[in-house]
Amino acid sequence: MLTWDELISACDNCKKCQLHKTRTNVVFGVGSCSSEVLFVGEGPGESEDLKGEPFVGRAGVLLDDMLKIIGLDRTKNIYIANIVKCRPPGNRDPQSDERELCLGWLRAQYRLISPKIVVCLGRIAAAELIDRNFKITRDHGKWYDKDGVKFMALYHPAALLRDPYKRPDTFVDLKSLERVIKETCERTLQ
Ligand code: URA
Repeated sequence: MLTWDELISACDNCKKCQLHKTRTNVVFGVGSCSSEVLFVGEGPGESEDLKGEPFVGRAGVLLDDMLKIIGLDRTKNIYIANIVKCRPPGNRDPQSDERELCLGWLRAQYRLISPKIVVCLGRIAAAELIDRNFKITRDHGKWYDKDGVKFMALYHPAALLRDPYKRPDTFVDLKSLERVIKETCERTLQ
């Protein structure tokens, strides 16, 4: 198994799919690799591609505000990664071959972080990590157990920017996440 630093440099040089041709930066992830809670988005947009960090555009500002409500902070107590590490041109959805080729990196991150809780941000991450038939409007906020690890999905922050009427549901989901973190994690919300 690669170390965390070896994984970063291997991922930085990845050319497994066509997205490497148009990327500025590989967006590996942000946060501490010893976090108990792992957030997973879909893939980098333009701002993320330019900075090499997930969720730094408008959706990222909203995500940071959401995290703050329940005492989470990307610089302190969580890790944030994406299903695909390179920006799909024009912010299109990542194609299934791109997701499959890239998922090995996320699996390796997952093994090294060994989180207690995984929070999917949006439909694409939830379909990959929870259930192929996941419906975000129906299944957001529900808890799933996978080999002793707890999984749930929130609406993607970009969806909350487009449709503010989804925000009250997300507040309820965040409070549920806070409760489960308190029950499950030792170090996250001290
Ligand atoms: N949307 C995502 O899903 N991930 C990012 O990193 C940025 C926007």
